[in-house]
Amino acid sequence: MLPTLDPELRRALATRIRYYNEMGIYDFYRRPLSERGGEVATSISADEEAINISEHASDPHPPDPGEEMSPRKATAVAVPREVEENVLHVIALKPEQSVSDPVKALKIIREDLGDCKRCVLHKQGRKQIVFGVGNPNAELMFVGEGPGADEDEKGEPFVGRAGQLLNNMIKAMGIEREQIYIANIVKCRPPGNRTPERDECDTCSPFLMRQIAVVKPKVIVALGATAAKTLLAMNSSMMQLRGRFYDFKPTGIRSNDPNWNGCKLAVTYHPAFLLRDPRQKGEAWKDLQMVMKELGMKAPAKNN
Ligand code: URA
Repeated sequence: MLPTLDPELRRALATRIRYYNEMGIYDFYRRPLSERGGEVATSISADEEAINISEHASDPHPPDPGEEMSPRKATAVAVPREVEENVLHVIALKPEQSVSDPVKALKIIREDLGDCKRCVLHKQGRKQIVFGVGNPNAELMFVGEGPGADEDEKGEPFVGRAGQLLNNMIKAMGIEREQIYIANIVKCRPPGNRTPERDECDTCSPFLMRQIAVVKPKVIVALGATAAKTLLAMNSSMMQLRGRFYDFKPTGIRSNDPNWNGCKLAVTYHPAFLLRDPRQKGEAWKDLQMVMKELGMKAPAKNN
């Protein structure tokens, strides 16, 4: 297995890759060694244009969109081989991208995850990895924060008390849990149900991005601040994040379906928060109604 990428470098790369993705550039590949004069350089080509990612890799600030940026500009920068391999690990074509069956593609991602030891959560009491569950062709996807004790026990997201409330929310929308796909930002239980650390989210979320690119939902609902902030790479409050749709594309990966160009993302309260403060359920219902409208869904009539 490749060494774990330094979190700062991973963050900088993720920001950089998101920037290129937003410009419609997804394909990164290595310049042949002969073109690099044999030096150890992290020169990556995109859309037949040479782009040097390492040039900005240590710059935590993405280029200003107004800043003139030429993809032709490619100054080879000497970097240690370990960094080069890590960079390529982050941006390489993923094996599931050549597979059209989403069940098989998700299986490939699960296998790639393996008995993951990429972050400290593997040695902090997790019983198992909680990968994700549901319809691999779902139009709607819910993303939570991370497994709790019940999820860690069962290997399935949202099966505890918060999960019961999520099930009720799903039912209120007039759909079945089996119709949607459910996953978390981190796939291992943080000890004592603490909030996952930023580096844990950054290490784990590329696998979620790959799951999203396979499922190709029409709408993602981010449950709570951790999911919202990680997916949107924004550090705003829930108040600021809720109540609107965002255009979302998974970072660092493109779906193999050319017709899927990303999806809408809405933010709502985490069910565990709603259990603590049920007065906010009405607000969450407003968020879900916005999602239902987007998906052309009608809430079922109440029986009583
Ligand atoms: N909370 C989450 O964020 N995810 C789960 O799977 C369970 C509880």
